[in-house]
Amino acid sequence: MSRSAHPAGPRHADVMTEGHYTAPPADLNALDGKVWARTVTRDEGGTVTVGGIEVTRLAEEFGTPAYFLDESDFRARCRAWADAFGRDADVFYAGKAFLSRAVVRWLQEEGLNLDVCSGGELTTALDAGMPAERIAFHGNNKTVAEIERAVTVGVGRIVLDSFQEIARVAHIAQRLGKRQRVQIRVTVGVEAHTHEFIATAHEDQKFGIALAGGQAAEAVRRALTLDGLELTGIHSHIGSQIFDMAGFEVSARRVVQLLAEVRDEHGVELPEIDLGGGLGIAYTSEDDPREPHEIAKALGDIVTRECEAAGLATPRISVEPGRAIVGPTAFTLYEVGTIKPLEGLRTYVSVDGGMSDNIRTALYDAEYTVALVSRTSDAEPMLVRVVGKHCESGDIVVKDAFLPSDLAPGDLIAVPATGAYCRSMASNYNHALRPPVVAVRDGGARVIVRRETEEDLLRLDVG
Ligand code: LLP
Repeated sequence: MSRSAHPAGPRHADVMTEGHYTAPPADLNALDGKVWARTVTRDEGGTVTVGGIEVTRLAEEFGTPAYFLDESDFRARCRAWADAFGRDADVFYAGKAFLSRAVVRWLQEEGLNLDVCSGGELTTALDAGMPAERIAFHGNNKTVAEIERAVTVGVGRIVLDSFQEIARVAHIAQRLGKRQRVQIRVTVGVEAHTHEFIATAHEDQKFGIALAGGQAAEAVRRALTLDGLELTGIHSHIGSQIFDMAGFEVSARRVVQLLAEVRDEHGVELPEIDLGGGLGIAYTSEDDPREPHEIAKALGDIVTRECEAAGLATPRISVEPGRAIVGPTAFTLYEVGTIKPLEGLRTYVSVDGGMSDNIRTALYDAEYTVALVSRTSDAEPMLVRVVGKHCESGDIVVKDAFLPSDLAPGDLIAVPATGAYCRSMASNYNHALRPPVVAVRDGGARVIVRRETEEDLLRLDVG
């Protein structure tokens, strides 16, 4: 497909090299099931529906911008992960992707555990009734207060991230008269093929303790001698939005090697390994994510094989998918405002949200798609950039996409695959009010996180 084949295509040199799309999709009204939540479809009148409800009705009732989350899709994804990993493994949903009390209840009902990385996430989890023993506590700089709370409530595991933290958690647990179950997070030296800011297993970054130079082995040595700690295993998380299983395989192999070294040195077989999260999802039609059962098989096979070779009993595996569960289940609904055609370049379509509800495009150069959802159109495709209403030229939601050229103010457009790291990274920049999250299921819709109000903004402003 060449760009010149497209009549409305860009002619500007910068756009030619920078652009992602080479040609518009064959049918602008089609919704690619890869990027849209499972119950999203167009009804006979051409309006997009989710959970059986038209987006036009949702916009009327809940306003825009808003995130609409397909609850049955979320639950189905939880079940797919739980089933794929089976009884001998544990799935911890990574709450940082998106967390609310409703989500915590769904996780419990679908048999998943939860990974939290702050006091706020811990509070949300406990408040919604997640049993503490099903919670893992993460973070490279947990505060003393957070550790005290986690130990007091009895979280299932704390994932230790540094030498100082090994001593700190041991000390706190001892003082509280407890023995805390812990894992040690190691950095395995894998360069995951993802954006630099979301890759986490190479050595020059802030997370974990390096396997290189015997540091992880030394961390195990220390943890095993401290009374306040019960070391149950080794943890590795190599990054996020990863498609290639090779990085996970190298990581699993290196973690098993460490287990063998620990056995040889201490006569102890650590019973658990956690291989982290990071599995990629489809943001555009070009992405081809792996299914949970493929991932479970690939990881299970490699761990079993490596353990057999090392003469170790296979440890209990756990994983921590966040994006892969919630990412595809939601879309952001916007109302189109100002439309500005720039001759020879592209058309800027402004929406009523922006970088305050989706910072990922500005931060990671993330790619998204967009569709006109309040109606169909047979108009010619036009190359657009969907931008927000913030005072910043980097306020881009979708960098390159095609929308019908009869697009008009008041139309509703939706950006799919915004369930992960959009509401959870939303901000009040320009005193924007963070949008609500509305769960939709079987013809019913309910707000699970309400829209912020101007009173909310003023309540914090106590000067
Ligand atoms: N486990 C640990 C220890 C993590 O640090 C993370 C993500 C996960 C699990 C879940 O990763 P996931 O399956 O969701 O990829 N804000 C970035 C992503 C940062 C991920 C941080 N850690 C983004 O919007 O792409």
